This record gives sequence, structure tokens and C-alpha cells, in this order.
Amino acid sequence: MIILVLLFTLAIVTDAWALDLDDQIDLIKKVYNLQPKNCGVPIIDNRARVTAGRELFESKILSGNKDISCRSCHLDRFGSTDGLPLAIGVGGDGEGKVRYQNGGVLVQRNTLSLKGRGHPQFKAFFWDGKAQQDGQRIVTQFGNYVTGFESPLAAAAILPLVERDEFLGETSYLASNDIQAKVGDKVYYDKYMAVGEAIRSRIINSNDASTRALREKLSAAGIDPQKLELVDIGNLLAQFIADEFRCEESNWDRYLKGDLQALTTRQKEGAVLFFGKGRCASCHDGELFSDFEYHSIGTPQGEFGPHSRHRDIGRAGVTNRLEDLYRFRTPPLIEVSSTAPYGHNGVFQTLEEVVTHHYNPMEFYIKHRDYYLIDYYRIGKLMGSRDKLLTTIDLKSKDEIEKIVAFLKAI
Ligand code: HEC
Ligand code: HEC
Repeated sequence: MIILVLLFTLAIVTDAWALDLDDQIDLIKKVYNLQPKNCGVPIIDNRARVTAGRELFESKILSGNKDISCRSCHLDRFGSTDGLPLAIGVGGDGEGKVRYQNGGVLVQRNTLSLKGRGHPQFKAFFWDGKAQQDGQRIVTQFGNYVTGFESPLAAAAILPLVERDEFLGETSYLASNDIQAKVGDKVYYDKYMAVGEAIRSRIINSNDASTRALREKLSAAGIDPQKLELVDIGNLLAQFIADEFRCEESNWDRYLKGDLQALTTRQKEGAVLFFGKGRCASCHDGELFSDFEYHSIGTPQGEFGPHSRHRDIGRAGVTNRLEDLYRFRTPPLIEVSSTAPYGHNGVFQTLEEVVTHHYNPMEFYIKHRDYYLIDYYRIGKLMGSRDKLLTTIDLKSKDEIEKIVAFLKAI
């Protein structure tokens, strides 16, 4: 009897607690004006363009040595990334960790997911925002000369094609392939034109079965291969990416639509912390959980970096502004639990590790003391760059972090 009463009381208490949590989230919903994300947009009705985009995405003909395609690094089994801290580009072979054993050039950043990249709220691309919508303009390293991109995603999609480590091949002076031979030392817009011309000439002149198929698909999509430009390739790739990597309805979306059972109690507690004293939504806000602005959380520098060893200056590399040192685009968090490791250089193995680093940066250094605590000077500079907002994060226990991580698994 006593046990029954106890069970009954427990049921009431847990129920009341659950109700209480739902009420709290309801309030948060109003304050933040939270909406389930709209994954139905954009509506792609031109299948021929999507099909041509897929062919380009999978095709190795776009790469200098014909050894890499977009798919080599954006794989379904790793949530449209490669599962590695830093990507392996030209010369690489295999998928996942195997890629590290097979040679190939190291790309100095962590591969980003392509999920939801066609969503209209997606305005800035790459860790440092080097392709970005700015009012009516789409800004890239090519200046104002290139017009005709249908979206900032279309501009982002061609940037890998002009990179030596990702597509062109490293040994420019030896001109080991026909694309490099045309590109030589060219930079910016000249490089854009040279790469475009070299790819077009390959697509027109090769007569193997896969190139013939590509030509047919381009024509079906209304693009004459004889007039193909990089901007057309970008627009088609963007159509495919927007369609193929559409965001999906998450448990959080279902919850926001009214299904209160869609989240576990711990996930609901995590949501309250995320929007409450965790202050996460100050930066990770909106349907995609990003403000598309640039902040520093003082991510430890890894062994390598695009701006020399141990150095990735982030947004400052694009803007040349001192205040942008070590800032990176706030990463969108949709489906984040499937894209480990984390951070622009993949130094964080787990969600627990990266979330903790936001408010307690020393923990990571102490855990990896043998490697990192040899250079206080470097760590000091990074600490100084951290966004002041991070000092207002009021999380204390491991339990709170685990609840937030449980919530991250629901978005
Ligand atoms: C060698 C591996 C590799 C290959 C091949 C590759 N990518 Fe990526 N991708 C990356 C990495 C690494 C990043 C992040 C780079 C950065 O931010 O500096 C990225 C980022 C992106 C982004 C930006 C996503 C965001 O959230 O801003 C898009 C779009 C993209 N890639 C599309 C493509 C397309 C299209 C191709 C083929 C033309 C391609 N990628 C080929 C590794 C690769
Ligand atoms: C000041 C803005 C800011 C706040 C506040 C903030 N973040 Fe971040 N977050 C970032 C930035 C910027 C990065 C990327 C840093 C890097 O790569 O160097 C990031 C990275 C992450 C990542 C890794 C994502 C990936 O794909 O690699 C996760 C997960 C994350 N934040 C969760 C949280 C959580 C949970 C909170 C609240 C406790 C939070 N963030 C608070 C700006 C912020």
C-alpha cells in the first residue's frame, strides 16, 4: 500500500515537473518567437537542373588530377561531412579515418555539413564567411566581377574548385594537369576565369562515357556545354545541395508544433538551459541556430592552420580587421550530433567538450596538457579574443552540460 501511495505521489510529482517544464518552454517560445524550421523551402521544381547538379557533385572531372569530387568529403554516413578533424583533399583516397592513411593533402579546416544550406535564412558560408550575402550583393574573393549567382550557396559551391588543396592540385609550378597549366599564378577573378575555361574545355573535349552523360544532363538542364561557366556550375550545384541535403523535421520542431512527447524530460531541461542561463541563443538563434555573425570562443589552435602553423585567424583573414581575429561564423546547430568532431579545426571530439569550452576554456587545455600547455603565449592571445558574452554563461555542473547535449541531439 505504502509503495502504491509512493508511486502515485511520484507520478504526480514527475507529471507536475513535466508540466512545469512545458510551461517554461512555452514562455521561452514567446520571448524568442521560436518557430519550427521550414524545410520545405526552397521548392525545387526543375528536376533536370537538380539531376545535372548531382552529376557535377559526384563528378571527378572538375578536379585537376581527376581524383576528387564534392562527394569525397560530404558523405551521408557522416551527416554530409567526412568525420575527420581536418579534411583530406587532393591525392586522398577512401572514406573516414582511412583517408589519413592513404596520403593526400591536408585541408586546414573541418568539413562543414551541407544540411539546410538551401534554407533562405542561410546567408554566410564557410567558417569565416568568405561567401556571403550582403544586401543585394553576393560577396566572394572574386570581387564584384562575377554576376549571375542565384544564391550565396551557388557562390559558395564553386569555391572548392579554385582551391589547390581541395581540387586543383598542389604543384602549380609543375603544372601537373591541364587545369593547373591554365591557372598558373593567376589569382582572384583571373583565376576564376581560367578554372572555368579549363573545366569547360575538358567537358567539351573528353569523350568517355561519364563526360558524355554529364554533357547530356547539362543540355537537358538548359545549359549549352560550349558556353558553360563556373557560375552555371555553381547554380546547378546549389540546386542539388538545396534539394538533397534539405533539413529534416527534428524532435524539437515536432515539439514546437505541439507534440509535447517529442522531447524527453532531460531534453526539455536542456532546452531551458540553452535559452536560459546557458545563453546559447545569444549567438545560436533562429530556425537554424545561428546569428550568421562572427564570434571568438577561443578555440584552441591545432597543429596546422591556413595562416601558418598553429594559426587560423578566422574572419580576420577575410576582412583584414584586427577585431575579427580568431572570430568564426556561429555554426548552425541543426543535426549537429551527427557531425563530430567539432570546431573550425575539429579539435573537439565530443559535444560535451565543445560546449564546456564556451564557458570553461581551461578544461580542454588541462585535459590535453602534454600537447597544449607548452605555449602560454599563444593561449593568452586566444583567451583575449573571446567574446565577452561567454562570461555571462552561468553553467556549473556536468549534469547541466549533459542536459544541453541531450537537447542538441533533438535539434
Ligand atoms: C577535401 C574535402 C572537400 C571537398 C572535396 C569538398 N568540400 Fe565542401 N567543405 C570542405 C571543408 C573543409 C569545408 C569548410 C571550409 C572552410 O570553411 O574554410 C567545406 C565547406 C563547404 C560549404 C560551406 C558550408 C557552410 O556551412 O558554410 C559548401 C557549400 C561546400 N563545402 C560545398 C562543396 C561542394 C559543392 C564541393 C564540390 C565542388 C565540395 N564542397 C567539395 C571540404 C570539402
Ligand atoms: C558568443 C557567441 C556564442 C555563444 C554565446 C555560444 N556559442 Fe557555440 N559557438 C560559437 C562559435 C563562434 C563557434 C565556432 C567556434 C570555432 O569553431 O572556433 C561555436 C561552436 C559551437 C558548437 C560546435 C559546432 C560545430 O559544428 O562544430 C556547438 C555544439 C556549440 N557552439 C554549442 C553552444 C552551446 C550549447 C552554447 C551555450 C552553452 C553556445 N554554443 C554558446 C558561438 C557561440
